[in-house]
Amino acid sequence: MPDVAFVNGAFVSLADAKVSIDDRGFQFGDGIYEVIRTYGGRPFELEAHLARLDRSAAALDLIQPYSPAEWTNHILEGIRRAAYPEAKIYIQLTRGVAPRDHAYEADLTPTVVLTVRELHSLSRSVQAAGVEAMTIEDIRWGRCDIKSLSLLGNVLARQQAKRAQVFEAILLKEGSITEGAVSNVMVVRGGTVMTAPEGPRILSGVTRAVVLGLARKEGLPVQERCIAQADLYGADEVFLTGTTVEVLAVVRVDGKVIKDGRPGPITQRLAAGFTGLVG
Ligand code: PDD
Repeated sequence: MPDVAFVNGAFVSLADAKVSIDDRGFQFGDGIYEVIRTYGGRPFELEAHLARLDRSAAALDLIQPYSPAEWTNHILEGIRRAAYPEAKIYIQLTRGVAPRDHAYEADLTPTVVLTVRELHSLSRSVQAAGVEAMTIEDIRWGRCDIKSLSLLGNVLARQQAKRAQVFEAILLKEGSITEGAVSNVMVVRGGTVMTAPEGPRILSGVTRAVVLGLARKEGLPVQERCIAQADLYGADEVFLTGTTVEVLAVVRVDGKVIKDGRPGPITQRLAAGFTGLVG
């Protein structure tokens, strides 16, 4: 079963999938992306991902080459061709090819890349035990709500976490938690599920919205508000949400054990609810 690539309107083998070195995605990180996964072979929350792609494109004045229906057709065709049990779909849309100049012409043809690869979920043992995280200063730009290709702040944070042998970097801006390097962060205190509010400091995660919806449906109080570093250390529970992490307990932050060092009851309830939803 092959990894599948789709470049500018045509399916090609990965070896033949090429873009120009003058592509503005390569030169400037001038583009956007989405990561979507399948459950049971079907793309999860595709509409929400495509809506976010639209929002990112509009924010950067990027021409959207496809309607949601056309994107959907290409994605479904890619999934069919790859024929993996579960797939990870990556969409990348850049402003296109032009001689290097920071300012751009309005009529550039965007470059579209879509890949479908086999999805490897986190192991059950990692999910059951939870993971460790560390806090790192959030040095990213002021529009983290755009799913931009320019991910240097995230890359450096995640690498710092890797070097420290912890799973995720939890980013702190002016003392408040924004999000993880590749996930959103939720904190439970006194039965309330708290997470940073939507806005320019975080990516509005598709999984975040699904999990907050689940929490509300379960009758759990939800607060979208600033969370200080001290709230994190003193939390009853901490967990991450994201396409690749799903609902993942954090049991230790900066070497400090959260509560009893095990995934808490609300995290487990929401993780089970999430599994029920996607299963
Ligand atoms: N990232 N915040 C950041 C900074 C992210 O990179 C991601 C996901 C999320 C979670 O968003 P969602 O629930 O829509 O996946 C939050 C993807 C998976 C990535 O960059 O690979």
